[in-house]
Amino acid sequence: MNPKQKSTILITCSAGLVDFLQQEVKQLGFAPQSPHKTGLEIQGDQLDAMLLNLHLRTAYNVLFLLKQFPCNSPDELYREVSKLPWEQMISPDEYLSVVSRVDAACIDNTMFASLKVKDAIVDRIAQHTGSRPDSGKDKNGVVIHLFWKNNRCWLYLNTSGQKISDRGYRKIPHQAPLRESLAAAIIQAAGYDGSQTLVCPMCGSGTLAIEAALIASRRAPGLLRTNFGFMHMNYFDDSAWQQMRTAAQKQSKKRGGKAAFKPAPIIATDIDPDAVEAARKNALTAGVSHLIDFDICDFADTNVPDLSTSEDDTSDDNGIILMNPEYGSRLGEIEDLKKTYERIGDFFKQKCTGYTGYIFTGNPDLAKKVHLRTSRKIPFFNANIECRLLKYELYSGTKKNRPDTDPRSHLSC
Ligand SMILES: C[S@@+](CC[C@H](N)C(=O)[O-])C[C@H]1O[C@@H](n2cnc3c(N)ncnc32)[C@H](O)[C@@H]1O
Repeated sequence: MNPKQKSTILITCSAGLVDFLQQEVKQLGFAPQSPHKTGLEIQGDQLDAMLLNLHLRTAYNVLFLLKQFPCNSPDELYREVSKLPWEQMISPDEYLSVVSRVDAACIDNTMFASLKVKDAIVDRIAQHTGSRPDSGKDKNGVVIHLFWKNNRCWLYLNTSGQKISDRGYRKIPHQAPLRESLAAAIIQAAGYDGSQTLVCPMCGSGTLAIEAALIASRRAPGLLRTNFGFMHMNYFDDSAWQQMRTAAQKQSKKRGGKAAFKPAPIIATDIDPDAVEAARKNALTAGVSHLIDFDICDFADTNVPDLSTSEDDTSDDNGIILMNPEYGSRLGEIEDLKKTYERIGDFFKQKCTGYTGYIFTGNPDLAKKVHLRTSRKIPFFNANIECRLLKYELYSGTKKNRPDTDPRSHLSC
């Protein structure tokens, strides 16, 4: 197979992130097509797929279309899949995993569909080479995706293997961590670009602060990973991959990498010493620990830098406070959390004047306890829970060009 042959590339993401994904894909120079709830398409070759895996922050998987065909039975599926020259693509020494999503009347067992695809591939490789690849559930080798809808099938190579939202830096997840792709989208929704002071009280395992530091230093998240699905194909072009990595490293170095560049301060705190320990270690693994100041404290005691000394006094966004409090499920928990949300409102009013405040929560009733007016409510999903990123303008009285005569008029209680 010629890796420069173009096909449809389907880039998947979690529900609610497609607008962010679309923006990223455009910034990389591609033309997104057919955006839907959990993905979009582009036309590209396997080198494009590698580039997308290296740079995308908000995606799940980059799927390269190998073949689409009409299909009315499991036997037909086997026959059609067998027609591809798998022996040219996959070594018998490789490990293979097949993932299927099926919505067709002629088959009600997704696992049976996966089995048929797997058999077709390994049988064909065995016929041509005399031996067959091992197969199973691990996504560390070649990963094939089948979508079967009514009487049509789409067969993709999952060039990512493991989801690219699994960056590999979170060795210690701690409690209720945000998925990295969701954290990256939240950071983008907050308008953060590295030039604003960023304060993350309640940092947990540090995902928001770490994703922010990666964005600030223009560090491609794929640089953190050593294994992708595309690396397991016979035609994998390692020298092209190394060139892409080097270019991405240069782009980050130009921004300073570990040396010259220091973004505006990134501060991450949590009341739980284990959380801060986990966040520190995760930041170290991600190569951004030098960009984040960690502290153990109640959120209300977080050292929030005074923005009134900022030279850019006309900027709307030179300070961001970003909080992801628990949103609870049991009644007792929720009663305790009401107090916490009230205290967040007090903290915003008393210590964060001049900042833009953000709260990411899946509990609108608790959010009301903040008692501040939101200027935006940005919808998200965290797994299946509908969430909002709530934006609060915490205007200072010292800013120039403010429309309000009473600078605290937005701090309505
Ligand atoms: C939902 S978790 C944050 C998860 C984080 N976004 C991540 O990706 O790992 C909420 C965090 O708030 C912290 N927390 C709870 N009450 C706190 C308080 N009063 N002050 C500071 N941190 C607090 C918890 O220790 C926990 O780590």
